[in-house]
Amino acid sequence: MNYENTQKLLAEYGQEHLLEYYNELDSHEQENLLAQIEKIDFSLLESLNKDVNSTAESGTIEPIKAVTSADIAEHGEEYFKAGIDALKSGKVAAVLLAGGQGTRLGFDKPKGMFNIGVTHELYIFECLINNIMDVVKQTGEWIPLCIMTSEKNNNDTVNFFADKNYFGYNSKYIRFFVQDMAPSVDFSGKILLETKSRVSSSPNGNGGWFSSLVRSGLLAELENQGVEWLNVFAVDNVLQRIADPMFIGAVIESGCQSGSKVVAKTNPYERVGAMCLKNGKPSIVEYYELTDEMAVQRMDDGELAYKFGVTLNYLFNTKQLDLINRTKMPVHIVEKKIPYVDENGREITPDKPNGYKFETLILDMINMNDSCLPYEVVRNREFAPVKNATGVDSVDTARELLEENGVQI
Ligand code: UTP
Repeated sequence: MNYENTQKLLAEYGQEHLLEYYNELDSHEQENLLAQIEKIDFSLLESLNKDVNSTAESGTIEPIKAVTSADIAEHGEEYFKAGIDALKSGKVAAVLLAGGQGTRLGFDKPKGMFNIGVTHELYIFECLINNIMDVVKQTGEWIPLCIMTSEKNNNDTVNFFADKNYFGYNSKYIRFFVQDMAPSVDFSGKILLETKSRVSSSPNGNGGWFSSLVRSGLLAELENQGVEWLNVFAVDNVLQRIADPMFIGAVIESGCQSGSKVVAKTNPYERVGAMCLKNGKPSIVEYYELTDEMAVQRMDDGELAYKFGVTLNYLFNTKQLDLINRTKMPVHIVEKKIPYVDENGREITPDKPNGYKFETLILDMINMNDSCLPYEVVRNREFAPVKNATGVDSVDTARELLEENGVQI
């Protein structure tokens, strides 16, 4: 798009300031800035008119029935068989969400490149590959693994995997795709410039994976190969079982459209989203949405009504997702500290939140399915998220759990 058309487009949305420093830029930077502006999804700005603190829709929340670890102990063999059949017939692919910025960990590379080893190198990506390799060995089949990166970390991630020889995975079965970006705005809705020649933007949240997978052409490829189920998981849980035959089998046998690996919460107020039914449909209620009364509510068997926290390891049916893709994902607006160029052309790194980022969240996809099977995994065997450097859900706790599970670190 040329300068004049860009100006017109920006005027339509009241964002003309993005060209304020255009005349100071060299021709390459100018071209680049126009291309960035052309890619902006201005429809996101509409979400600013909604109340930023309550983007979640209200509704009646009720408990949902889960397959518990006791049920799994009883029916495990049957689930395992159904899952192995699906895997052997090529119906399952895995999708690793690695487009996040991992700000809480404070590591300046993609989170998966973090070395969690102590006596030897053991990278987070390596842990995940080791885990999926267990299933490859069980089935004798490679499982297609799609890795979502962002514009910010794609090169580092792709090069890292190549340098490490894909940690022994068959590289033909690993595909990378880049998620879309969303612009950042100040509190009055003006899109920020990160530098005079760069629009401030960030990855559009972990809910962006499906539309980005579709756009990359990878979903069509997988479906042509006969893939019907996608096991989508986060980068940070180093203990999670990926393409777990029992989980896959349990979801298929249940007839549900999706499944979610869950763990029993450590206490009623743990800061984790819990599975529930919202207006009769599967959903995830955030810890801050639970009233005190609901947090401690118990069922007839004495168990907490909202006992099961999500681990960000889901199974989705591709047919159902096609339908979801045609509806718009809810946009969450999050206050953040966003580096920007001020009215005097100086680059500022704020020390308190100065604007909003837009994100879509994978948890909203659960509510777009008519059914979802919460599947309980034993917490200290399958849940070791690396969110922080120290403290809760940290490098320290993940190391302890890896050791407890016999992984040499
Ligand atoms: P988190 O919600 O923990 O976000 O991501 P994050 O960006 O990794 O970390 P913080 O909050 O800045 O510390 C959960 C999962 O979703 C992925 C992450 O890579 C992680 O696997 N994710 C998140 C994306 O793939 N894209 C995004 O835009 C955001």
